Amino acid sequence: MRIKVAPSILSADFSCLDREIKKVESAGADMLHIDIMDGHFVPNITIGPVVVKYISKVTRLPLDVHLMIENPEKFIDAFVAAGSNMITLHIETISASAFKRQAGRLKKKNVSVGISLNPATPLAKIKSVLKYADFVLVMSVNPGFGGQKFIPSVLPKIKKLRLMFEGSISVDGGVNDLVAAELIHAGADILASGSYIFCAKNTKQAIERIRNAR
Ligand code: DX5
Ligand code: ZN
Repeated sequence: MRIKVAPSILSADFSCLDREIKKVESAGADMLHIDIMDGHFVPNITIGPVVVKYISKVTRLPLDVHLMIENPEKFIDAFVAAGSNMITLHIETISASAFKRQAGRLKKKNVSVGISLNPATPLAKIKSVLKYADFVLVMSVNPGFGGQKFIPSVLPKIKKLRLMFEGSISVDGGVNDLVAAELIHAGADILASGSYIFCAKNTKQAIERIRNAR
């Protein structure tokens, strides 16, 4: 599988977001990871659909929108209308039957759908929805903030998931060039990374080091 790198704009300088996005786009990013936080599901607040809409105007990169919010069903349509190409929902915030329904709706709109799970949530919780998901986003930190340390106990989880799921496996949290090799070996093919990429002196090199890690 080709490895894709998804810079997470949570670690970008939001006072010049346009420039920051173009920086990662020209450095070879495959998609843009956008973290949506509501101060309820996670202890932090970020941005809503209005900002996503303006982001979609300044980049050609697919928008990978990670919803860390309670009652995500209320907001899916607004994020789709804002230009999201990929929407990730957390299993901690949605029932299996609601996920199935939303996945069907998103596929009709040509938006790919992912299911995410926190480090403490076992794979058993997502088993029944895997057949409706295009990808799984495995959290490798407790969601809420960029710049946290990668939790290595997710590696066996990824290996196990790889054996039961054929779609893409994305990993998010604490990803750098060192853990990337282990993640790829475990079966991940999309690597989201915020602070490592946005704080790097050489953005292109940082993205390539993640993509080519083995
Ligand atoms: C964490 C977010 C991540 C975060 C990753 O809640 O979902 O996408 O921005 O940032 P780093 O790579 O710095 O851990
Ligand atoms: Zn994220």
